[in-house]
Amino acid sequence: MISQGNRMTKATKSKNDLAVIILAAGRGTRMRSALPKVMHGLAGRPLIAWLLATVQKLKPARVIVVIAPDMDDLRAAVAPAPCAVQVKALGTGDAVKAALPALKGFKGDVLILLGDMPLISVATLKGLIKARHRERDTGLAVLGAEYNPVPAFGRLVENPDGTLARIVEHKDATAEERLITLCNTGAFCVDGAQLAKWVGRINNRNAQKEFYITDLPAIAAKDGYKTQIAVTEDLDEVQGVNSRVDLAMLEYIVQAGMRLNALEAGVTMHDPASVYFSYDTEVGRDVVIEPNVFIGPGVVIGDGVTIRSFCHIESAVIKNGCSVGPFARLRPGAELDERVHIGNFVEIKNAKLGRGVKAGHLAYIGDAIVGEGTNYSCGAITANYDGANKHKTVIGRNVMVGSNVNLIAPVTIGDGAYLAAGSTITQDVPKDKLGIARARQSNLRKPVKKREKKD
Ligand code: UD1
Ligand code: CA
Repeated sequence: MISQGNRMTKATKSKNDLAVIILAAGRGTRMRSALPKVMHGLAGRPLIAWLLATVQKLKPARVIVVIAPDMDDLRAAVAPAPCAVQVKALGTGDAVKAALPALKGFKGDVLILLGDMPLISVATLKGLIKARHRERDTGLAVLGAEYNPVPAFGRLVENPDGTLARIVEHKDATAEERLITLCNTGAFCVDGAQLAKWVGRINNRNAQKEFYITDLPAIAAKDGYKTQIAVTEDLDEVQGVNSRVDLAMLEYIVQAGMRLNALEAGVTMHDPASVYFSYDTEVGRDVVIEPNVFIGPGVVIGDGVTIRSFCHIESAVIKNGCSVGPFARLRPGAELDERVHIGNFVEIKNAKLGRGVKAGHLAYIGDAIVGEGTNYSCGAITANYDGANKHKTVIGRNVMVGSNVNLIAPVTIGDGAYLAAGSTITQDVPKDKLGIARARQSNLRKPVKKREKKD
């Protein structure tokens, strides 16, 4: 019993002494959007989700996201991480203040990050945390970067010993201070035991009448604490998003990285720059992706798959040896078993296609199960929607679905059945039977009356 008790105490102690505050209450005016800035998508997921995924890798004890009062969609997107509400956007210092009640009694390291900086890496964050422990009297650390040309960022004013004296915001900086090229990226690591006290001393006597988080180094210095600077060389990872131009630039950076990964993992692309991946795309080996293909979130592609030009694919599974496209659309819930062939102008939604199924041209398969070896001919469709509800079509193995067949769901077709071209199938067709549902053709005996061209 006693040893059990000891183990539990140890487990509690070894808990990570890190909390993270993510600031995301800003309006993001320059995005010109009804959506909170950090909800805008980057390679298939919101900016805030990128940052949260990175932060989770540090296994923090707590993560608090600071939002504005009306950002319910953002609150839902970050759940289960709790949100703190900043009532008015009075500046980054005030935003941190809003998170303090959720950190009551916390004495570990507090990382403060900007919600609009999605690509920051785990290694860099670890370096920042390490910098905060460089010396005994280090109260905080800031992540800096060298810029040329220098944007309108906060400048890091160093002490002769290389520690940070203070940060001066661009708008408050003198001409001389503006010559400093070492800037504040916006990420801080602060001693949690001091944070509340120091934040309480921030005032808004500055050019923007805002409460600046960047006042912390000077405030800490007054208490005899030093601020260390961790410098990152990688400007891409600290690139923030303030406008749609920035967002497009980040998309470019992320796509370039994913294309390189795919090439290195055994994917052939004739024109990588025209192939779009999502953050979670999984691609096997010996896959060929022709130019102009868009892959949305939730896509898994097996080995030996060929995706031909102009395909749009989202939330779909494509197993080994399949070929898809050109001009195919795989919508959410499309699952292609091995060696399925999908040709041009075929749309598949919420449907499982068994091994070797062929749908070569101009077809729609929605809310369906199609058995192994079935041929689904040109122009055949599942009529899955009755105007109010969706219904299911079940097609057995080795079925021959003729051209221009309408399958009026719900309907079930037995293994080995044939569906005659042009049929509108409203009733189940048993195994190995021919279903035919079309008017019989009659050729009238009387010769056709020739139409004459009028001038
Ligand atoms: C901030 C830094 C600046 C740094 C730059 C890097 C301050 C005062 N300045 O400037 O030194 O070089 O980032 O990009 O911190 N936010 C809130 N509530 C607010 C204000 C902002 O939550 O009241 C959030 C925003 O959602 C945003 C982040 O804080 O994610 C940064 O705010 P922003 O106004 O963009 O700061 P900058 O002027 O860019
Ligand atoms: Ca900013």
